[in-house]
Amino acid sequence: MENIKSRIESLKKEKNAVILAHYYVPGEVQEIADYIGDSFYLSKIAKEASQEMIVFCGVSFMGESAKILSPGKLVLMPDITAGCPMAEMAQADKIEEVRSKYNDVAVVCYINSTGELKKHSDVCVTSSNAVKIVKALPNKNIYFIPDGNLGRYVASQVKDKHFIFNDGFCHVHAKAGKDDVKAAKEAHPGALVLVHPECYMEVLEEADYIGSTSGIIDFASKSSAREFIIGTEPGVMYKLTKENKDKKFYPLLPGQVCPDMKKITLEKVLKCMEDGSGAVEVKEDLRNSAITALSRMLELAR
Ligand code: 13P
Ligand code: SF4
Repeated sequence: MENIKSRIESLKKEKNAVILAHYYVPGEVQEIADYIGDSFYLSKIAKEASQEMIVFCGVSFMGESAKILSPGKLVLMPDITAGCPMAEMAQADKIEEVRSKYNDVAVVCYINSTGELKKHSDVCVTSSNAVKIVKALPNKNIYFIPDGNLGRYVASQVKDKHFIFNDGFCHVHAKAGKDDVKAAKEAHPGALVLVHPECYMEVLEEADYIGSTSGIIDFASKSSAREFIIGTEPGVMYKLTKENKDKKFYPLLPGQVCPDMKKITLEKVLKCMEDGSGAVEVKEDLRNSAITALSRMLELAR
């Protein structure tokens, strides 16, 4: 293990590479990363990075977004089969149908989506900026794709707009229901419940805090409470426990694991850096049309 880590460190220098890791990848991968964060933070870093090579430890929509934002860089994914099933849970023809029905509609696309869906959208959002961006849009009608749960959460925070929802969902967050929150609260009375907005509304309604992965980590780190029930993928425990040695964290539901994020291993990171495998390619015409929604997100989230 130590040998793999030191080879990765030397390759970083040799190849002028930067390693980005999402909070859901295994802890040992987060340990060797230069930047760890939520989807929004990592997309900003990918755009601004000065290195020639970006090794993106996450799932395919993250690598694809990095390549769209930084087309001149070599973007490598340690495992190109690591995907997010929700990224495909919307249809371009349905988007066009909604556009023809409402003349004042903004198609708001969660970054957990394919480039093809981004191409048909007006603006991208992540869980950390969706409320802010939707509020800033001049449009009255919002078609939120692909995640129905995040869409409903945003609608609950932006009362003066009309929302059209899509039925996409995250199969990991959808495992938890309100009975799981009740059981976790009974097992840990006094613990605060922190959940990701990809959870069902019945879970969000029981929570003390709702936010992105970095929002959850930030909230727990600043809170004076000592115990927390965590309603998101357990990869966040790496940072939570490292930064809060005096606090206790319990998963809302053991087994709420994202199998795709866990495909990223140190061995695969090393391999792609050694042989250049897993390079992300985005065709120029797709890039040119998908970048508009991503760039508008970066602009409106500022
Ligand atoms: P964050 O943007 O909160 O990190 O979420 C990404 C994700 O895939 C959640 O399932
Ligand atoms: Fe996709 Fe859910 Fe995994 Fe996030 S946790 S990458 S939304 S499957």
